[in-house]
Amino acid sequence: MVSGRYHVTTFGCQMNAHDSGRIEGMLESLGYAAAPNRDEADLILFNTCSIREAADSRFVAHLMEARAVKRRRPETIIGVGGCWAQSMKDEIFAEYPFVDVAFGPGQAARLAEFLASDSIGARGFFEFESFTADLPMRREQGHHAWVQISVGCNCRCSYCIVPSTRGREVSRPLGDLTREVRALAASGVVEVTLLGQNVNAWGRDLRPERSSFSALLAALDGIEGIERIRYTSPHPKDMREDVIDAHATLESVCEHIHLPLQSGSSRILKRMRRTYDRARYMDRVAMIRERVPDCAITTDIIVGFPGETEDDFAETLAVVEEVGFDGAFTFVFSPRRGTEAAAMEEEFVDGDVARERMERLVEAVRRRAGERAERFLGRELEVMIEGSSRDDPSQLRGRTRHNRNVYFEGMGRAGELAPVLITGTTSQSLTGEMALVAAAQRLSR
Ligand code: SAH
Ligand code: SF4
Ligand code: F3S
Repeated sequence: MVSGRYHVTTFGCQMNAHDSGRIEGMLESLGYAAAPNRDEADLILFNTCSIREAADSRFVAHLMEARAVKRRRPETIIGVGGCWAQSMKDEIFAEYPFVDVAFGPGQAARLAEFLASDSIGARGFFEFESFTADLPMRREQGHHAWVQISVGCNCRCSYCIVPSTRGREVSRPLGDLTREVRALAASGVVEVTLLGQNVNAWGRDLRPERSSFSALLAALDGIEGIERIRYTSPHPKDMREDVIDAHATLESVCEHIHLPLQSGSSRILKRMRRTYDRARYMDRVAMIRERVPDCAITTDIIVGFPGETEDDFAETLAVVEEVGFDGAFTFVFSPRRGTEAAAMEEEFVDGDVARERMERLVEAVRRRAGERAERFLGRELEVMIEGSSRDDPSQLRGRTRHNRNVYFEGMGRAGELAPVLITGTTSQSLTGEMALVAAAQRLSR
């Protein structure tokens, strides 16, 4: 089949969102068009995630719906890409015989080969071959773009499935990245988010010349038209002075650092193989606070890692209190196939205990994030307009450089910067008025 209609469902992280954009771009360059739903698609694709068990079960429910479509229309092709596909490479065709093609995150380009071939047998592609970023991007109007700077991860966090699904770390060359971002800027993009599993390891594997993440930030900062640069995620062990300084000195690098903590207990961090301890993490936070005082810091935390005691958890809570994160993604530990932590079965934390800890954690995170937000009250912040508020279309929705959502009265189009006077805060978002509107109202009073 070399043309027809496709439908892609994407699960998981921003890297998958990026990869799906490329897969769609590739399909469109082959002559495929998007279908509005699965029922009307000749090619049903899934870009999958396997980070936690919930991700798996959610996806499998969707896959069964696709099987139902295929029962009605047997010529439908079902394809499964991404991390779940990679981690299931030995079982997928036996367990889900209706799947026609499966590929890992580094083999999306092979989908084209499969579609062009006459053979009707199911095929799997699982060796890393190329960056999805080398595929054409779906044409999109928008002010923001994801930019893949590296793939894979050389860390061995004991709970994490990603190193086995995304493989070894490979950086894209500097020239490819500056070219891509220049082209994005020329097409109207004003904000980019750099993507990698461990972005600040970028460049170390490049030859003949090694490079560094801070050098990349400096190169991209120089590109005309790019107002804001963000990145996700850095690893605390590689968070060095030069990267923190980039936030202070480079105009487009935003005042927000997502610094995944995972646990506040040095004992648990060691078992997680995070390669930093609580003191070293706090030292990074202190350096951020010193060099970039207003910087927002957000994090990821896992509760209920095997062997986590009440005392270990208390240390996590203590770090949350001490740092005062602007926000946090919190997860209950989920054992993943093939990982070291999944084999620590005797030490699994009871589900009720983990859920109770999660409640306390969420309360602390919310309270501290709410307190942190108060520093914005009465300030005029630069807000990137993203559209109108979903709940109240008369209000605009935007984002500060600190990555806080703002709802405000005013006028403007997505991608424009507006000065907004902050008049209200919650732990999740800010409210305000466009500074000019506020000034006009004061005058008329
Ligand atoms: N490479 C990134 C993102 C990893 S996945 C990083 O290292 O920050 C995003 C988050 O999911 C992780 O930071 C971790 O908090 C969480 N996570 C990963 N594996 C998990 C597991 N097995 N159980 C629960 N949470 C997990
Ligand atoms: Fe997973 Fe750790 Fe790599 Fe992040 S750094 S992707 S948590 S192994
Ligand atoms: Fe999921 Fe793979 Fe991303 S497991 S979170 S899609 S790297």
